[in-house]
Formats: sequence, structure tokens, C-alpha cells
Amino acid sequence: MSEISTELRAALERASSGASTVAVTAAVERLSARYRTVAAADSPILSSRADVLAYAVYRMPATYAAVRLALLHGLDAGLGAVESLVDLGGGTGASVWAAADVLPGLAQATVLEQVAEAHRLGRDLAGDTLPRADWRTWRLGEPVPAGDLVTVSYVLSELSPSQQQRVVDDATGAAQRAVLVVEPGTPDGHRRVLTARAALIDADWQVIAPCPHALGCPLAVDDWCHFAARVNRSALHRKVKGGELSHEDEKFSYVLAVRPGEAPSPGGAARVVRHPVKRKGLVELQLCRPDGSAGREVVSKRQGPAYKAARDVAWGDAWPPDPS
Ligand SMILES: C[S@@+](CC[C@H](N)C(=O)[O-])C[C@H]1O[C@@H](n2cnc3c(N)ncnc32)[C@H](O)[C@@H]1O
Repeated sequence: MSEISTELRAALERASSGASTVAVTAAVERLSARYRTVAAADSPILSSRADVLAYAVYRMPATYAAVRLALLHGLDAGLGAVESLVDLGGGTGASVWAAADVLPGLAQATVLEQVAEAHRLGRDLAGDTLPRADWRTWRLGEPVPAGDLVTVSYVLSELSPSQQQRVVDDATGAAQRAVLVVEPGTPDGHRRVLTARAALIDADWQVIAPCPHALGCPLAVDDWCHFAARVNRSALHRKVKGGELSHEDEKFSYVLAVRPGEAPSPGGAARVVRHPVKRKGLVELQLCRPDGSAGREVVSKRQGPAYKAARDVAWGDAWPPDPS
């Protein structure tokens, strides 16, 4: 676990120490049911202090882990230096925690969010760990300040199609370098990401991850592109969500694009789009390739260094890996 995720976990434990487990569990159940019903929200889904705390306890470690992994993929694919972040619909600030963990040059973050209670908790959680975060009450449609990177994480499903388009347009208008959109790793989450991806490509932005090309998505018809980030579950999380496992895998879909010229030309690597299957002397990879196709590649022991690399490659990595 990274130092930042340990800090986040400790901050969540502190914030929830005085709260009634029964109240938090009831709020978790209500929110889980609401988020399963994918439908635009007429009014904020997080409507009370208990909701915001419940959201932070049961979802923030997972959304943090998803954004963190997407940014790591982006760094491998040429995402340049990021000094400032603007997080749209930022909730309690999961993206800021993720960015602070993996973007060493990050000096300033602005979290724009409609629910003031989410700011309050986000600010408390951030404490001295994320000192340069600015929390602003904001509703979609209001001006968005500029930043190197603009994130839109787990927000689209709460918006109507025209609002989804608006938030992506606002993100591209405000981002000086890069836009990251993250959604749940479900077929409809992937569809929303594809619509955002099309808007980014139409605006001449360069998609650097996960897609190795700007062609049509080869997985769009009978499959969906998603990845998984492992999240350690705290005792508190297990208490409010039930279940015994000490971890869960957060499935997510995403697109990360940069302004033209912000990243080197694509290096021609494919993307591993499923868990590699390892058998004796063989590794089977499911790939999305730069030529716009998707399919299986089997790497055998006879291929020496390629086999060794295939044994180490993970779902979501580039293939072949950059030798550097
Ligand atoms: C599921 S939460 C995600 C929070 C955070 N981005 C994360 O990844 O953990 C969606 C957030 O979007 C915010 N949101 C939804 N519609 C909004 C709107 N019209 N204007 C501003 N924020 C909005 C909600 O208040 C909520 O905090």
C-alpha cells in the first residue's frame, strides 16, 4: 500500500470514529441501491452528512484506486508533468488523493462540487496531507478554472446525456494539458466513456490511454473495456458493507486524453484488456491493438525474453512493455 493510501485510510477511520455504524450502514445501503439504478439525478444524491460519510467510507478508497491506476497507465503512455488539478464533481476529493500519490509535480488542486457537506468532509480528510487543495461549491454550468489536468470521476452516470456532454466540454475547455474521465467498469459505464472519448477525439485531443488508437472501439459490440484496481478493505468498510474478504477489485472504465502535442507520438504498443492467463510455458494475452483490432496473443516459453515479460505483464499494462 502506498503511503498516501495509508493516510487516506487513517483519515477515514478518524472521520468516522464517532459515527453510529447503524446509521452509516443504512446510508451505504441506500446509496448502493441508488447508484445501481443508473439514472440522472434531479437533486444531489449525497443529501446529508451521513450520506457523505457513508460515501467516503465505502466508495472513496475504490474511486481513489481507480483514478490512481488510470493515471499510472497515463504516465506510462506519455502523460507529462502536471502541476495543477481541477476535479469536477469531486465529492470528497478521491481524485486529489490519487493525483497526489502518483503525480510528483502536483502543487495545487481545486475540487468543484455541488454538495457543501462533501467539501467539509473532504477538507477534514485532506488535513495536512493535501495542504494545497481548494474546495469550491460549484454546479455544472458554472465557470471552471483552468488546470493542467481536469478529472471527471464517477460523475457521468448522475447526469443527463446533455449534461454529460457539457461536463466533458467544460473539462476540455479548462484543461491545459489532459482530461481524465473515469466511470464504473460496467457496459453502460463503458458506453458513457466511449461517448466522452468521441467528444475528445472530435475536439482533436489525443487519447493516450487505455486506447492505443483513435479508431472505433473494437470491444464496443459484445464486450466492454474495463480494468481492475485492487483495494484493501478496512475493518470499518467490512462492517458497513458486509463480507469477509480483506480486499476487493474495483472495476472501472476510463479515457485519458491530452491536448495535441502534449504527449510523444504513440509508441505502437497494444493494451492488455483482460487478466493474462498463465499456463505452464504459455501466457495468453487479450489485446487491444494500435491497428484498431482486438484479439488473443499467445506468448510461449520458446520466445525467451518476450515470455519473461509476458509473465510480468498485468491487466491494463501496455504490451510489449516499454524497454525503458
Ligand atoms: C459518485 S460521486 C463521485 C465523487 C468523486 N468524483 C469520486 O470519484 O469519488 C458524484 C459526484 O458528482 C457530483 N455532481 C453530480 N451532479 C453534479 C452537478 N450537476 N454539479 C456539480 N456536481 C455534481 C455529486 O454531488 C457527487 O459528489
